[in-house]
Amino acid sequence: METGGKPNLPTPFIAFLYRICNNIQSATMKNVVGYLALFVFIGLANGQEVITVTNGETDGRWGPLETCPSGSRAISYQTQNEIDAPVVDDSAMNTLVLFCDDPLQTNLTSTPGYTGNWQNVQNCPFGAYMKSFQLLVSPAGNTTDNTAVNNIRFMCSNDRDISGIGNREGYWGEYSAECPEGICGLETRVRPDGGLLVDNTALNDVRFTCCAAAEF
Ligand SMILES: *[C@@H]1O[C@H](CO)[C@@H](O)[C@H](O)[C@H]1NC(C)=O
Ligand SMILES: *[C@@H]1O[C@H](CO)[C@@H](O)[C@H](O)[C@H]1NC(C)=O
Repeated sequence: METGGKPNLPTPFIAFLYRICNNIQSATMKNVVGYLALFVFIGLANGQEVITVTNGETDGRWGPLETCPSGSRAISYQTQNEIDAPVVDDSAMNTLVLFCDDPLQTNLTSTPGYTGNWQNVQNCPFGAYMKSFQLLVSPAGNTTDNTAVNNIRFMCSNDRDISGIGNREGYWGEYSAECPEGICGLETRVRPDGGLLVDNTALNDVRFTCCAAAEF
């Protein structure tokens, strides 16, 4: 807040906090109000808590947030992976699809990838839902052929984890925080297909929004 440029003000409430912020002389108080505004902004912008992991990669842009219909949540998923890549440029995991437990079995993809084989659908045991996740990632720069995300694993609400076949290289990062009422929204970060002259990595990172307790 103190570094100059005026942020976009998404709501009158943030505008109100921003005005207070400008009228406060003490730098410490400015920081306090600034952080408060930031947390309120994050809360309002997403409606809900966001769960992330720290070992994702940073190429590509975040895709649109897609969410399950009100009152439903994610219970299964499917991935598209370039498992048997030609010798040169492997992009590994490309697409993540989440399935919600609404009657239409709505699926969420955010930004899909562009290549690979569809793996089997993985389901939480009956009655359970997905609440946290972990990524297998090849760190950038380990080889001349970076692949970014290679696989994903979810913890279900009955404390059983589910995972499918993915690419094997890389390291599993820490589990994300848990969504107490489950996962309701998906955003993916995908590096678009750059053709033959770039090192394609496709899926670089994912993050999820938690379901609102009020809906269950
Ligand atoms: C996701 O839903 C759309 C629209 O109903 C459907 O066309 C598509 O096949 C579904 N994708 C998967 C992976 O089931
Ligand atoms: C790093 O690259 C080597 C090949 O040069 C590969 O065998 C190894 O699995 C890679 N390590 C990770 C963590 O991706």
